[in-house]
Amino acid sequence: MTSTPRPLAVVTGASSGIGRATTELLCKSGYAVHVVARRADRLAELEDQLGVTGHAMDVADSAAVDALASALDAPAVLVNCAGGARGGDPVVDADPSAWEWMWQTNVLGTLLFDRAFVPKMKQAGRGTVVTVTSVAAFEPLPNSSGYSTSKHAQSALTQTLRSEMLGSPIRIIEVCPGIVRTEFFHQRYPDSPERADAMYDGLAPLEPMDVARAIDFAISQPPHVTLDRIVIRPTDQAGHGRTHRRTGNAHPEGPPQ
Ligand SMILES: NC(=O)c1ccc[n+]([C@@H]2O[C@H](COP(=O)([O-])OP(=O)(O)OC[C@H]3O[C@@H](n4cnc5c(N)ncnc54)[C@H](OP(=O)(O)O)[C@@H]3O)[C@@H](O)[C@H]2O)c1
Repeated sequence: MTSTPRPLAVVTGASSGIGRATTELLCKSGYAVHVVARRADRLAELEDQLGVTGHAMDVADSAAVDALASALDAPAVLVNCAGGARGGDPVVDADPSAWEWMWQTNVLGTLLFDRAFVPKMKQAGRGTVVTVTSVAAFEPLPNSSGYSTSKHAQSALTQTLRSEMLGSPIRIIEVCPGIVRTEFFHQRYPDSPERADAMYDGLAPLEPMDVARAIDFAISQPPHVTLDRIVIRPTDQAGHGRTHRRTGNAHPEGPPQ
């Protein structure tokens, strides 16, 4: 008896946090998932645990992204989740190398994956692209200009692509989370784990699976339904930088997510 091949999904940033949780749900839903991140050891663990296929690479490496796309059939789902923040300085003290990393990863990385995979989806006559931006994509905060501008740009790229896909069956979905408990702040402040941990002081942040469930819900809608922008925050966060903390109130206006 021949079995139907599983639909293909590609998830960037799958070695941790939201991308990893999304990979788990996609596997449960029956997708054959190809996962992308730089840490090969993490991808090897995922291969063992979930039966996915790992690709250790930088999302901003254009040749590597194109080679990956050439090696794969058209995915049914692409999740652009790789990303992060570096530093937390005011504009006048901004570190251009931190900006460069954020723009390369958050903006160029998304562009390269969209550019490589969306034409294949169009040719296949179906496909869903989910891009994880942030509430920082529409609410800038002090001391976070590099991250916020890169997320605004990533969001503009996503909205432009949606507009350009009009008339095709390709769905373009943007997911904008508030504070999520992941490695994000530890990567952002590698020299200050206390500062990273303090972001969660006294509040109940989103967990990666909370965001993954929203992504899974959006993907599993019928083809004529596009949840075009999903904003998902902890109940303890009323706006970007406006948080309710039961103890300490260490970062009432902390840096954006
Ligand atoms: N946590 C939050 O509060 C929050 C809120 C709103 C939005 N977000 C967004 O959610 C997305 C996922 O973040 P997260 O919270 O899950 O953080 P995370 O746990 O730090 O995960 C980030 C993922 O991105 C990958 N990555 C980073 N740079 C990469 C690069 N240049 N090439 C390939 N992979 C790269 C990392 O893998 P490697 O290090 O192995 O490469 C990791 O898998 C990001 O776009 C972030 O901006 C996070």
